[in-house]
Amino acid sequence: MPRPISASISLSSLKHNLAVVAQQLISFSQQNRRVVPNIWAVIKANAYGHGIDNAVRAFGQAQGLAMLDLDEAVRCRELGWDKPILMLEGFFEPSDIRVFRDYSLWTTVHCQEQLDMLKAAAPGPGLNAMIKLNTGMSRLGFSPAAFAGAYRQALEEQSRGALCIVGKMTHFARSDDDARVTEAQFNLFMDVCRDLPGPVSLCNSAATLTPRYWLWAPPELEQWVRPGICLYGSTPFPGQSAEDLGLEPAMTLKSRIISVQEVPAGQGVGYGHVFVASQRMRVGVVACGYADGYPRHAPNGTPVTVDGRPTQLLGRVSMDMLIVDLTSLPNAGIGSPVVLWGQGGPSVDQVAHAAGTIGYELLCALAPRVPVDVS
Ligand SMILES: Cc1ncc(COP(=O)(O)O)c(C=O)c1O
Repeated sequence: MPRPISASISLSSLKHNLAVVAQQLISFSQQNRRVVPNIWAVIKANAYGHGIDNAVRAFGQAQGLAMLDLDEAVRCRELGWDKPILMLEGFFEPSDIRVFRDYSLWTTVHCQEQLDMLKAAAPGPGLNAMIKLNTGMSRLGFSPAAFAGAYRQALEEQSRGALCIVGKMTHFARSDDDARVTEAQFNLFMDVCRDLPGPVSLCNSAATLTPRYWLWAPPELEQWVRPGICLYGSTPFPGQSAEDLGLEPAMTLKSRIISVQEVPAGQGVGYGHVFVASQRMRVGVVACGYADGYPRHAPNGTPVTVDGRPTQLLGRVSMDMLIVDLTSLPNAGIGSPVVLWGQGGPSVDQVAHAAGTIGYELLCALAPRVPVDVS
């Protein structure tokens, strides 16, 4: 028998979460009498750990997919995805351009070097491109001073046939927690891009789920939103749970108790004895460790569910095992089901919060050795 750990991916939850986003876009667009934004479902990093194949199966209602790994994009085409695919980092070297053409990938253009590669490319089918403006994320994108020049070059490539659709995009740094910063980024985007033709793309999950942010864009513009994390049932907001947003966890990480120990008062538990029992305790050893993707830095008290009942992590997470408190669960024993996060257990965001990180990191870190079942 294989180790009892597995991850379940729920296609219906992925579909549900996309529908929540789509429905919100539709209702706020109708209320404000404007065209509904298109959705690029972001599926980078193996669909945030959920699997490219599963994402393609579940996100059929999205108008496009966004990612950054060429192999993943090719896989989407092989699976029959024939709608737009936006590559969020664009191409990396001249030879990539042929792959972009062969698979009809939209490219992000965020630097002069990419424009130069396009200009130098042999004639071929035109690509669609989103030219990226750095409005304050300080990550990818042309500076506001360089943007008009970059856009002019892109439009020249359009007239030469190397580009077809040319649009503009930016990325918000604090749409989850700071409206003033987000508004300043938006205002800068509009100052720079107001008179430039083409579609716009601004919003990640947090901004998509904050309708006023995408409603800021002029209604006549074709707009694409780029939600990622919310589609997987994890919250983009520090102070609001995924459940409150109507989202369902799409990944459930589960395992079983494989050993039970009686621990006398004063005895340490696990490596480093970072937990010492203050009274006699019963603890269970779960077949799940940091080599499965569970965060090693999760502290004592991190929530976990055993036999459907909430309990807590004790001691340091090992490579293949972790230890939980069974003192108040006398019926739990070897074989008892454990949910590390997801349906029937703590949310991935609760575990991430306890471990001082975000749900994104835990979902993406699911280890390849963990068997996945899809329902
Ligand atoms: C350019 C871009 N757009 C959209 C997203 C999706 O962000 P989120 O998962 O917060 O919705 C990301 C993710 O980092 C991104 O880099």
